[in-house]
Amino acid sequence: MDLLIKNGTIVTATESFVADLAVKDGKITAIGKDLDTDAKEIVDATGKLVLPGAIDAHTHMAMPFGGTVSADSYLAGTRAAACGGVTTIFDYPVQHAGETILGLVNSKRKVLEKEACVDYAMHCCITNLNDGEILDELEKAVAEGITSFKCFLVYKKEGMMVDDATLARLLLRAKELGAMINVHAENPDLIDLNIENFLKEGKTSAWYHYLSRPEYVEAEADQRAVHWAKHLDAPIYIVHMADKEGLEACIRAKEEGAPVYVETCPQYLEFTCDVYKREDGRNFVCSPPMKGQESLDALWEAIKDGFIDTIATDHCPFQSYEKDWGKDDFTKIPNGCAGVENMYPYMLDAANSGKITFEKVVELCSANPAKIFGCTDKGSLSIGKDADIVIYDKDKDFTISVSNMHSDCDHTIWEGKKLHGYPVQTYLRGKLVYDNGEFVGTPGMGQYIKRKPREQ
Ligand code: URP
Ligand code: ZN
Ligand code: ZN
Repeated sequence: MDLLIKNGTIVTATESFVADLAVKDGKITAIGKDLDTDAKEIVDATGKLVLPGAIDAHTHMAMPFGGTVSADSYLAGTRAAACGGVTTIFDYPVQHAGETILGLVNSKRKVLEKEACVDYAMHCCITNLNDGEILDELEKAVAEGITSFKCFLVYKKEGMMVDDATLARLLLRAKELGAMINVHAENPDLIDLNIENFLKEGKTSAWYHYLSRPEYVEAEADQRAVHWAKHLDAPIYIVHMADKEGLEACIRAKEEGAPVYVETCPQYLEFTCDVYKREDGRNFVCSPPMKGQESLDALWEAIKDGFIDTIATDHCPFQSYEKDWGKDDFTKIPNGCAGVENMYPYMLDAANSGKITFEKVVELCSANPAKIFGCTDKGSLSIGKDADIVIYDKDKDFTISVSNMHSDCDHTIWEGKKLHGYPVQTYLRGKLVYDNGEFVGTPGMGQYIKRKPREQ
C-alpha cells in the first residue's frame, strides 16, 4: 500500500461515513474501518472531510481570444486547479476554418504533456465544418477519446459562431457517435444591435456589457438550443447557464425527458449584474454576464431541486492591463474571469454553511461531470477509481486574495471573499500536489484522459 488516509469522513455523491482509504499505484484499493497500517505513508484525516478531486469541465487555458491570449498557461492554470482541489480539467481548444480536430487537439496535448499539473480532457470547439470534413472526422476524434464538442451560438463577428443548420448537423452526428454537443447560448444579432445603439449614444461603461446581453438575450438562445435537442432527440449540454428564463426552458425539457444537461458557474451563484456598476466592473466582464438577483436565486433553487447537473468555472482570465483596454469602451474588454481555484472551495463553503449538502457538491463538481463526459476512472471515492482526493478542513477560515491564489493572473473577482472551510491537501492519483497553501506537484504529471463515448 502506498498511502493510507485514516479516520476521515469520506464523502460521496450519496453518503458520508468515517473510514480509512487505501491507495496503491494511483488507485483506490480499499475503503473501510481500521485498514491495515502497513502503508508507505499514513495521513491522519481525523475530523476532516475526504472528497473526490473536483472536475472542472470548463476552462480556457492559453486561449487566443479578445485580441490577446488568456492569462493562464496550461502550467499556471492546472497549478491553480490543483490548489483549489481540482484534479481534472476539461479545456476548450477552438478549431478554426481549415483546421482539423485532431491536428488541434494533438498540438495542445504536446504542450499539456509537459505542463499539466492535473489530469486533462478536451472538448473541442467547432467553428467551421470545413465543407463537411469535420463531420467525417468526428468519428476519429471520438475514437481518440474526444467525445464532446462545443458550438458557440454567439461570437459571430469573431468568426466563432455556428448557425442553426451546423448545430443541427453536429447534434445528429454526435448522437450517432455517442458524443455530446456543448453549447454557449446567447443571441449574437441582439447583442450586436444593442452594442451599436449603446456606442452611438456614448454608453461605454462595463454596465453596458450587461445591458447589451441581458437575460432575454441568453434566454432566446437557450430556448433555441433546447428546442433542437428535444426535437432531434440528441443530447445537449448548456454551458455556463446564467439566466432564469433559459433555465426554466431547460427544466421543462428535462421534465419532458429531453436529453438536456445544464452547467452553471460559481460567478453566477455569487454576483449579480450590479458588479458592472463598480469602478472595477470591467474585471467581471465575461459572457454571458452576471444577471439579476432573480436569476441568481433561480440557479440556487435549481441546484437544490436537481436541475443543474454540473458546476464548472469557465476559467478564462485576463490581466488587468488587458481588461483596461475597455476602460472607455466595454466592447474592448477581453471576456472572461479566473475561477478554477475557487470553484470547489466556494461550493464546499455553501455546504459548510448548510445551504446545500456536501454530497450535493460532490455530485455537481465531480460525480456528474465524470459520468456525463465519460471519465470512467474519475468522479468518485470507490475501489478501482483513480485516487484523486481532497482533504478538506471544515474549520479553516480562508479569505480569497490574489496573493494566495496560484494562477498567473494579477487580480481576482473573488478578492476579499471569506470562506469557512478550505481544502488542505490535494492528491492526484495518490500523489500529493497541494499541501496547505503550496503547490507541491510537478508540471507534466497530469495525464490525458481518453474518454468513453456515451452508451446509446
Ligand atoms: O467570457 C467568457 N466566457 N470567455 C471565455 C469564452 C466563453 O465564452 O466561454
Ligand atoms: Zn462560453
Ligand atoms: Zn467558456
